[in-house]
Amino acid sequence: MQLYPLSYYDDQANGYTLIKTVPLSSAMGAEIQGVHLPTMSDAQFAQVKSALYRYKMVYFRDQNLTIADQEKLTLRFGPFGTDAYTKGMPGHPNVQHLLKEASTKVDRVFGEGWHTDSPFLAQPPAVSLLYGIHIPPYGGDTWWTNSELAYDFLSEGLKALLQGLRVHMTAREAIRLTVRKDAQGKEIVGDMQMVMQEQEEMIRGNYHPLVRTHPETGKQALYVDTIYAQGILGLKDEEARPLLDYLARHITREDFCCRLRWTAGTLVMWDNRICLHKAFNDYDGHKREMIRTIVNGEVPF
Ligand code: SIN
Repeated sequence: MQLYPLSYYDDQANGYTLIKTVPLSSAMGAEIQGVHLPTMSDAQFAQVKSALYRYKMVYFRDQNLTIADQEKLTLRFGPFGTDAYTKGMPGHPNVQHLLKEASTKVDRVFGEGWHTDSPFLAQPPAVSLLYGIHIPPYGGDTWWTNSELAYDFLSEGLKALLQGLRVHMTAREAIRLTVRKDAQGKEIVGDMQMVMQEQEEMIRGNYHPLVRTHPETGKQALYVDTIYAQGILGLKDEEARPLLDYLARHITREDFCCRLRWTAGTLVMWDNRICLHKAFNDYDGHKREMIRTIVNGEVPF
């Protein structure tokens, strides 16, 4: 597959004067240099947001953030989003502690399988922020894929067919595949205790546009993944399934992806409206500890 000409995806610098962007792959992702996140000016933040919409995910190395720094940074985008799976950290209800101890062995880690964050909600998170505290010596990378680029690469015929369809986003499979009970009967994923009072609501989910429009850029992107997208409004399951399977294969082509090797002190932000991501379960015997926050999003349109 040839990603160029650049009309499909322009990864060139965009006249940023207050930040430096270094593209990660030809399809998406960029490191932003020259920014200290806790003291970032409003003018720098405006360029960071622009870079986020352009590259879909951006990351900053060597940030040395406290939880309060990450909370403040998240709130610059807007109010915290709802995390349906956990109740946050003590004293920090909007901060999720992603932890897998060296001794823990699990079938699936939190975030495994290509997904966009909590699309079963009426207002799924717009932006997610993940900060690396303890990183295994190898493994534990994260992969992203560019769902705007994947949409651009569809034929005009299929694009026309998809317009107006609504995808059923439900947490049914995510719960079935990842949530286990510990010895006390508490629901866990890895070493994280899940608090999912709203399980029925999560499974009922929501119907969202299968092709969604970004509220800031006006660009369209596929809104489909391999975990939560489980049906299409008005179609029988045997009609929807092959279409969803095809779109899932298409959107996760390696050509549309980038993969990040974490280091302690790296902060990543990604735009859930225009990319998917997945975690890896490949670091048994090593601890991985991350801090995650999310920004509330709009009702997808
Ligand atoms: C997530 O899905 O939010 C977590 C990704 C990761 O841990 O790499």
